[in-house]
Amino acid sequence: MSEFHGKIEKNIGLMIVLTILVISVGALVEIVPLFFMHSTTEPVKGLKPYSALQLAGRDVYIREGCYVCHSQMIRPFRAETERYGHYSLAGEFVYDRPFQWGSKRTGPDLHRVGGRYSDDWHRVHLMNPRDVVPESIMPGYPWLDTNLVDNKTIQKKMKVMRRLGSPYTDEEIEQAPGQVEGKTEMDAIIAYLQGLGTSVKTRR
Ligand code: HEC
Repeated sequence: MSEFHGKIEKNIGLMIVLTILVISVGALVEIVPLFFMHSTTEPVKGLKPYSALQLAGRDVYIREGCYVCHSQMIRPFRAETERYGHYSLAGEFVYDRPFQWGSKRTGPDLHRVGGRYSDDWHRVHLMNPRDVVPESIMPGYPWLDTNLVDNKTIQKKMKVMRRLGSPYTDEEIEQAPGQVEGKTEMDAIIAYLQGLGTSVKTRR
Protein backbone atom coordinates (compact mmCIF):
# COMPACT_ATOMS: atom_id res chain seq x y z
CA MET A 1 0.00 0.00 0.00
CA SER A 2 2.67 2.48 1.01
CA GLU A 3 4.62 1.52 -2.09
CA PHE A 4 1.61 2.38 -4.23
CA HIS A 5 1.22 5.65 -2.40
CA GLY A 6 4.89 6.39 -2.83
CA LYS A 7 4.52 5.90 -6.58
CA ILE A 8 1.74 8.47 -6.78
CA GLU A 9 3.62 10.99 -4.67
CA LYS A 10 6.72 10.73 -6.81
CA ASN A 11 4.88 10.92 -10.13
CA ILE A 12 3.48 14.43 -10.40
CA GLY A 13 1.58 13.70 -13.65
CA LEU A 14 -0.25 10.78 -12.08
CA MET A 15 -0.86 12.83 -8.95
CA ILE A 16 -2.49 15.61 -11.00
CA VAL A 17 -4.70 13.19 -12.94
CA LEU A 18 -5.86 11.41 -9.80
CA THR A 19 -6.47 14.71 -7.96
CA ILE A 20 -8.63 15.98 -10.82
CA LEU A 21 -10.51 12.68 -10.83
CA VAL A 22 -11.26 12.85 -7.11
CA ILE A 23 -12.36 16.51 -7.23
CA SER A 24 -14.54 15.90 -10.31
CA VAL A 25 -16.39 13.00 -8.73
CA GLY A 26 -16.86 15.00 -5.53
CA ALA A 27 -18.15 18.00 -7.46
CA LEU A 28 -20.54 15.92 -9.56
CA VAL A 29 -22.03 14.31 -6.47
CA GLU A 30 -22.48 17.72 -4.82
CA ILE A 31 -23.59 19.85 -7.77
CA VAL A 32 -25.60 17.69 -10.15
CA PRO A 33 -28.48 16.92 -7.74
CA LEU A 34 -29.05 20.68 -7.32
CA PHE A 35 -30.17 20.92 -10.94
CA PHE A 36 -32.98 18.48 -10.24
CA MET A 37 -34.05 19.56 -6.76
CA HIS A 38 -37.46 21.15 -6.62
CA SER A 39 -36.45 23.72 -4.00
CA THR A 40 -33.61 25.10 -6.14
CA THR A 41 -35.32 25.18 -9.52
CA GLU A 42 -38.89 26.21 -8.69
CA PRO A 43 -39.82 29.80 -7.79
CA VAL A 44 -41.01 30.28 -4.19
CA LYS A 45 -44.74 30.82 -3.84
CA GLY A 46 -45.70 34.38 -4.71
CA LEU A 47 -42.50 35.19 -6.61
CA LYS A 48 -43.17 37.58 -9.47
CA PRO A 49 -40.81 38.51 -12.28
CA TYR A 50 -39.49 42.07 -12.07
CA SER A 51 -41.80 44.79 -13.39
CA ALA A 52 -40.53 46.78 -16.37
CA LEU A 53 -39.40 49.61 -14.07
CA GLN A 54 -37.72 47.21 -11.62
CA LEU A 55 -35.96 45.41 -14.44
CA ALA A 56 -34.61 48.74 -15.69
CA GLY A 57 -33.54 49.55 -12.12
CA ARG A 58 -31.77 46.25 -11.83
CA ASP A 59 -29.69 47.12 -14.88
CA VAL A 60 -28.75 50.43 -13.29
CA TYR A 61 -27.76 48.54 -10.11
CA ILE A 62 -25.46 46.32 -12.17
CA ARG A 63 -24.09 49.19 -14.28
CA GLU A 64 -23.22 51.27 -11.22
CA GLY A 65 -21.48 48.32 -9.58
CA CYS A 66 -23.57 48.31 -6.40
CA TYR A 67 -22.75 44.59 -6.15
CA VAL A 68 -19.12 45.48 -5.56
CA CYS A 69 -20.04 46.53 -2.01
CA HIS A 70 -23.38 44.80 -1.45
CA SER A 71 -24.27 41.12 -1.39
CA GLN A 72 -27.81 39.83 -1.85
CA MET A 73 -27.67 36.61 0.06
CA ILE A 74 -28.56 36.20 3.71
CA ARG A 75 -26.87 33.13 5.10
CA PRO A 76 -28.69 30.79 7.49
CA PHE A 77 -26.84 31.95 10.62
CA ARG A 78 -28.35 33.58 13.66
CA ALA A 79 -26.21 36.73 13.35
CA GLU A 80 -27.41 37.19 9.78
CA THR A 81 -31.10 36.44 10.27
CA GLU A 82 -31.28 38.69 13.36
CA ARG A 83 -29.94 41.55 11.32
CA TYR A 84 -31.40 41.04 7.86
CA GLY A 85 -34.44 38.78 8.25
CA HIS A 86 -35.19 35.32 6.90
CA TYR A 87 -32.23 33.69 5.19
CA SER A 88 -32.32 33.69 1.38
CA LEU A 89 -33.99 30.78 -0.40
CA ALA A 90 -32.79 29.48 -3.76
CA GLY A 91 -36.33 29.69 -5.14
CA GLU A 92 -36.35 33.48 -4.65
CA PHE A 93 -33.70 33.97 -7.33
CA VAL A 94 -35.26 31.97 -10.15
CA TYR A 95 -35.91 35.13 -12.20
CA ASP A 96 -32.57 36.75 -11.34
CA ARG A 97 -30.32 36.67 -14.37
CA PRO A 98 -27.54 37.17 -13.56
CA PHE A 99 -27.96 36.66 -9.80
CA GLN A 100 -26.49 39.29 -7.48
CA TRP A 101 -25.58 37.07 -4.51
CA GLY A 102 -21.98 38.19 -4.16
CA SER A 103 -19.74 37.66 -1.17
CA LYS A 104 -18.17 41.10 -0.71
CA ARG A 105 -19.83 43.18 1.95
CA THR A 106 -18.42 46.65 2.31
CA GLY A 107 -22.01 47.70 2.95
CA PRO A 108 -24.89 45.65 4.37
CA ASP A 109 -26.61 42.78 2.57
CA LEU A 110 -29.51 44.09 0.48
CA HIS A 111 -31.51 40.94 -0.18
CA ARG A 112 -34.36 41.98 2.13
CA VAL A 113 -33.97 45.75 2.02
CA GLY A 114 -37.35 46.02 0.20
CA GLY A 115 -39.82 47.95 2.36
CA ARG A 116 -37.29 48.70 5.11
CA TYR A 117 -37.02 52.39 4.20
CA SER A 118 -39.31 54.84 2.40
CA ASP A 119 -38.79 55.81 -1.23
CA ASP A 120 -37.80 59.27 -0.02
CA TRP A 121 -35.14 57.83 2.27
CA HIS A 122 -33.60 55.97 -0.68
CA ARG A 123 -33.73 59.08 -2.84
CA VAL A 124 -31.83 61.17 -0.30
CA HIS A 125 -29.47 58.30 0.49
CA LEU A 126 -28.59 57.66 -3.16
CA MET A 127 -28.04 61.38 -3.86
CA ASN A 128 -25.66 61.67 -0.90
CA PRO A 129 -25.59 58.88 1.70
CA ARG A 130 -24.12 61.18 4.36
CA ASP A 131 -27.32 63.20 4.48
CA VAL A 132 -29.03 60.28 6.24
CA VAL A 133 -26.12 58.16 7.54
CA PRO A 134 -23.40 60.64 8.60
CA GLU A 135 -20.65 58.03 8.93
CA SER A 136 -21.41 56.38 5.57
CA ILE A 137 -18.60 55.68 3.11
CA MET A 138 -20.99 54.84 0.26
CA PRO A 139 -20.58 57.08 -2.81
CA GLY A 140 -23.44 59.30 -4.00
CA TYR A 141 -25.16 58.68 -7.35
CA PRO A 142 -26.79 62.06 -8.12
CA TRP A 143 -26.84 61.49 -11.90
CA LEU A 144 -29.48 58.79 -11.47
CA ASP A 145 -31.92 61.57 -10.65
CA THR A 146 -31.54 63.23 -14.07
CA ASN A 147 -30.87 60.25 -16.36
CA LEU A 148 -34.05 58.97 -17.97
CA VAL A 149 -34.73 55.23 -18.28
CA ASP A 150 -34.13 53.98 -21.80
CA ASN A 151 -37.58 52.90 -22.98
CA LYS A 152 -36.39 51.66 -26.38
CA THR A 153 -34.70 48.50 -25.15
CA ILE A 154 -37.05 47.47 -22.36
CA GLN A 155 -39.28 45.27 -24.51
CA LYS A 156 -36.32 43.44 -25.95
CA LYS A 157 -34.95 42.82 -22.45
CA MET A 158 -38.27 41.44 -21.28
CA LYS A 159 -38.48 39.17 -24.28
CA VAL A 160 -35.02 37.80 -23.55
CA MET A 161 -36.03 37.25 -19.91
CA ARG A 162 -39.17 35.47 -21.04
CA ARG A 163 -37.14 33.18 -23.20
CA LEU A 164 -35.03 32.34 -20.15
CA GLY A 165 -38.11 31.52 -18.10
CA SER A 166 -39.59 34.73 -16.62
CA PRO A 167 -43.35 34.39 -17.22
CA TYR A 168 -44.08 37.81 -18.82
CA THR A 169 -47.35 38.07 -20.70
CA ASP A 170 -47.61 39.72 -24.13
CA GLU A 171 -49.66 42.43 -22.48
CA GLU A 172 -46.96 43.21 -19.90
CA ILE A 173 -44.35 43.46 -22.62
CA GLU A 174 -46.63 45.66 -24.70
CA GLN A 175 -47.21 48.08 -21.83
CA ALA A 176 -43.57 48.18 -20.71
CA PRO A 177 -42.38 51.26 -22.64
CA GLY A 178 -45.32 53.25 -21.29
CA GLN A 179 -44.48 52.21 -17.74
CA VAL A 180 -40.89 53.43 -17.89
CA GLU A 181 -41.64 56.50 -20.03
CA GLY A 182 -40.45 59.68 -18.33
CA LYS A 183 -39.12 57.79 -15.29
CA THR A 184 -35.62 58.53 -14.05
CA GLU A 185 -33.01 55.91 -13.30
CA MET A 186 -33.49 56.94 -9.66
CA ASP A 187 -37.19 55.95 -9.83
CA ALA A 188 -36.18 52.66 -11.42
CA ILE A 189 -33.47 51.67 -8.95
CA ILE A 190 -35.73 52.57 -6.01
CA ALA A 191 -38.53 50.40 -7.47
CA TYR A 192 -36.00 47.59 -7.75
CA LEU A 193 -34.68 48.03 -4.19
CA GLN A 194 -38.19 48.21 -2.72
CA GLY A 195 -39.08 44.86 -4.27
CA LEU A 196 -36.00 43.01 -3.03
CA GLY A 197 -36.73 40.00 -0.85
CA THR A 198 -40.41 40.79 -0.42
CA SER A 199 -41.91 37.67 -1.98
CA VAL A 200 -41.31 35.61 1.15
CA LYS A 201 -43.60 36.80 3.95
CA THR A 202 -41.41 35.98 6.89
CA ARG A 203 -39.98 39.41 7.58
CA ARG A 204 -39.36 40.50 11.15
C1 HEC B 1 -18.00 51.70 -1.86
C2 HEC B 1 -18.99 50.74 -1.41
C3 HEC B 1 -20.45 50.96 -1.77
C4 HEC B 1 -21.01 51.04 -3.02
C5 HEC B 1 -20.33 51.02 -4.37
C6 HEC B 1 -22.43 51.13 -2.80
N1 HEC B 1 -22.72 51.09 -1.47
FE1 HEC B 1 -24.56 51.08 -0.62
N2 HEC B 1 -23.74 51.10 1.24
C7 HEC B 1 -22.39 51.08 1.50
C8 HEC B 1 -22.19 51.21 2.94
C9 HEC B 1 -20.83 51.23 3.65
C10 HEC B 1 -23.47 51.30 3.53
C11 HEC B 1 -23.82 51.48 5.03
C12 HEC B 1 -23.90 52.98 5.34
C13 HEC B 1 -25.10 53.63 4.69
O1 HEC B 1 -26.25 53.24 4.98
O2 HEC B 1 -24.90 54.53 3.85
C14 HEC B 1 -24.43 51.22 2.42
C15 HEC B 1 -25.80 51.22 2.58
C16 HEC B 1 -26.72 51.05 1.57
C17 HEC B 1 -28.15 50.91 1.75
C18 HEC B 1 -28.87 50.86 3.08
C19 HEC B 1 -28.89 49.41 3.56
C20 HEC B 1 -29.44 49.21 4.94
O3 HEC B 1 -29.93 48.09 5.21
O4 HEC B 1 -29.38 50.13 5.77
C21 HEC B 1 -28.70 50.79 0.52
C22 HEC B 1 -30.17 50.60 0.18
C23 HEC B 1 -27.62 50.86 -0.45
N3 HEC B 1 -26.43 51.01 0.23
C24 HEC B 1 -27.79 50.80 -1.83
C25 HEC B 1 -26.75 50.95 -2.74
C26 HEC B 1 -26.95 51.03 -4.16
C27 HEC B 1 -28.30 50.96 -4.86
C28 HEC B 1 -25.72 51.18 -4.72
C29 HEC B 1 -25.38 51.39 -6.19
C30 HEC B 1 -26.06 52.50 -6.85
C31 HEC B 1 -24.75 51.16 -3.64
N4 HEC B 1 -25.41 51.02 -2.45
C32 HEC B 1 -23.38 51.24 -3.81
C33 HEC B 1 -21.38 50.93 0.58
C34 HEC B 1 -21.53 50.99 -0.80
